Amino acid sequence: DGRHMASNSRQRLLVVANRLPVSATRIGDTWSLELSAGGLVSALLGVRQFETRWIGWAGVNVADEVGQVALKNALEEKRCVPVFLDEETVHQYYNGYCNNVLWPLFHYLGLPQEDRLSATRSLEDQFEAYKRANSKFADVVQSIYKEGDVIWCHDYHLMFLPKCLKDYDINMKVGWFLHTPFPSSEIYRMLPSRSELLKAVLCADLIGFHTYDYARHFVSACTRILGLEGTRSGVEDHPLGKLTRVAAFPIGIDPERFSEALSRPDVKGYIQELQQKFSGRKVMLGVDRLDTIKGIPQKLLAFEKFLDENVEWRDKVLLVQIAVPTRTDVHDYQRLTSQVHEIVGRINGRFGTLTTVPIHHLDRSLDFHRLCALYAVTDVAIVTSLRDGMNLVSYEFVACQNMKKGVLILSELAGAAQSLGAGAILVNPWNISDVAVAIKDALDMPETDREECHRHNFEHVTTHTAQVWADTFVSELNDTIVEAELRTRR
Ligand code: G6P
Repeated sequence: DGRHMASNSRQRLLVVANRLPVSATRIGDTWSLELSAGGLVSALLGVRQFETRWIGWAGVNVADEVGQVALKNALEEKRCVPVFLDEETVHQYYNGYCNNVLWPLFHYLGLPQEDRLSATRSLEDQFEAYKRANSKFADVVQSIYKEGDVIWCHDYHLMFLPKCLKDYDINMKVGWFLHTPFPSSEIYRMLPSRSELLKAVLCADLIGFHTYDYARHFVSACTRILGLEGTRSGVEDHPLGKLTRVAAFPIGIDPERFSEALSRPDVKGYIQELQQKFSGRKVMLGVDRLDTIKGIPQKLLAFEKFLDENVEWRDKVLLVQIAVPTRTDVHDYQRLTSQVHEIVGRINGRFGTLTTVPIHHLDRSLDFHRLCALYAVTDVAIVTSLRDGMNLVSYEFVACQNMKKGVLILSELAGAAQSLGAGAILVNPWNISDVAVAIKDALDMPETDREECHRHNFEHVTTHTAQVWADTFVSELNDTIVEAELRTRR
């Protein structure tokens, strides 16, 4: 039965996500592969108990067959199987429906207004492209599927995939997990394709979210929009006699990856270097993808207000903001870049001196080991997401803070507020004055309070790991009953 299979350590897990954990760059006839950023990637890196295969978009356009074969072979070593999408599909599916429609809607930013729509085709066209792309992922899954495999579909890019897979073989074990918030049904119901998407997701055997609230919102969308019955364990479709299990499975990180990094001599060297560079100043740190949902302008404005109101801190604090460019072909992301640059420029112009500036802003990602060193020397980490599925930056910071026991300022609108809230200063990121006060409180927090907060957070981060998350989800998925078993039991 399911439990027996779960205890078999070499069960195959097919992880299907829009993005593979490696990004590929073509150099002549060969491919160079690099580990890519993102919460999901860092979480699944920690999962070692399954024989995992990744299926996902390689992130590049490979039009020729020779190139496709070469990339496929290169990726095989990393246990990755690529899905090839042409440029037009990427535009309509990834830039369009995923990141200009579903992403903002799920983060309570609404649907694209006309000025955002006119650059792309209609919502219907984008939805058609979305379905076509999802069925391409399904084709690749089918091509490697073996009986006994468990399939785990990830995120808002692949809401149609559970249906595609079950249409192919009703006996496949299919789970689907959403890494973003699932919004209130009052927001979700704006989506023109709301019913079709919900029905497609409900084909899965198990549906997971980061928090109980997201799961509850999903179930009420199914009751209100589809008229199905929501129960404590999921959504019931009476005519079909099918129950889809819906539950919360909060994700975590692989904390050992960080503690191991911090014990490396080169990382210790980076830490010393940074301590020298930053000496005499408290270090505040923001690490975000450059995304509207991360509330970077709001964070900068709060920092500006803090500097305005606290003259004594002006040359004693530095905000390091790492803003990793992402989805650069989407209009809102382009606009955000210039908006952020403008604010940073103004604040540095206002409060900088001949030799120092208050904000050190980088438009790029850092190498993992340097990032760990940066986390370790930070006094205050600040996460001001306007909405965020979970936010693992807050977890990563905690994992690296055994030395400093720094303070976490955390948006109450991030999923992580439910797990790290008791050990953080919680803020409403829209309330600039409140965040400015939180910055001061964080910088002034006495050591005993900092230690207590850190102890609480560290305990959580080291026990609620990515491994635990994946284990719990996959064993629960194994325990769900698929159609064939139902039929034999009847
Ligand atoms: C979020 C999403 C992931 C996505 C990541 C990076 O964390 O939930 O599915 O991979 O952002 O975004 P990108 O568009 O670059 O893949």
